[in-house]
Amino acid sequence: MKNKLQIKDSALKIAVDGESASGKGTICKALAKEFDLFYCQSSLFYRKLAKAVIENHLESLDEIKNFIISSNYLENISEDGLYKPDVTSKSSEIASIAEVRALLEIPQKNMAKSKNRIIMEGRDIGTNIMPDADVKLYITAPIEDRTKRRYAQLKQNLEENISLEKVREDLETRDKRDKESLSSPLKPAEDAIIIQNSNLSLDEFYK
Ligand code: DC
Repeated sequence: MKNKLQIKDSALKIAVDGESASGKGTICKALAKEFDLFYCQSSLFYRKLAKAVIENHLESLDEIKNFIISSNYLENISEDGLYKPDVTSKSSEIASIAEVRALLEIPQKNMAKSKNRIIMEGRDIGTNIMPDADVKLYITAPIEDRTKRRYAQLKQNLEENISLEKVREDLETRDKRDKESLSSPLKPAEDAIIIQNSNLSLDEFYK
């Protein structure tokens, strides 16, 4: 009998969580293509908000909350510069605020509900945003591999000079914040399949 993965017009929801630079994005894009799924990168909610917070000099929590409620920031903020170190760091900072998470949760849950076939990537998708997902994956990789991956990405996208040590330090700070978040800590859902993505090629991943 064919399963949901093989029937291309049946509902299919896949939740993918994991550490920064664990390679979840590459895995999600490949799965989205293979199974014809809508791909939602939930970190865009946090990164776009972080960019707006920096650009508009929003300082207090009330200012940030008002901004989320009153602006259509997800549509209006472009993706330029979303991976700059200051935006990355700010996104992790604001993601650790429970009230901000609660506000960003609403559009994410709406998005998850509105699509019949979706793969959604983030930190709390399997545990919080799509607890009813058909498949839950949790991607992890050693810090050394993640550092190399993020360093290569940054070198490709940015003109700024950045050292391997600084990249590792930033990843460790974000890991700590993501895992210790009181409202929604990064952890595998109980029914998640854990994937060690160290030197796994995409072909090996499919096996
Ligand atoms: O996946 P990323 O590195 O682009 O995510 C940037 C930040 O956004 C990350 O430090 C934590 C936050 N994030 C989150 O808290 N929850 C999500 N579902 C997605 C991202």
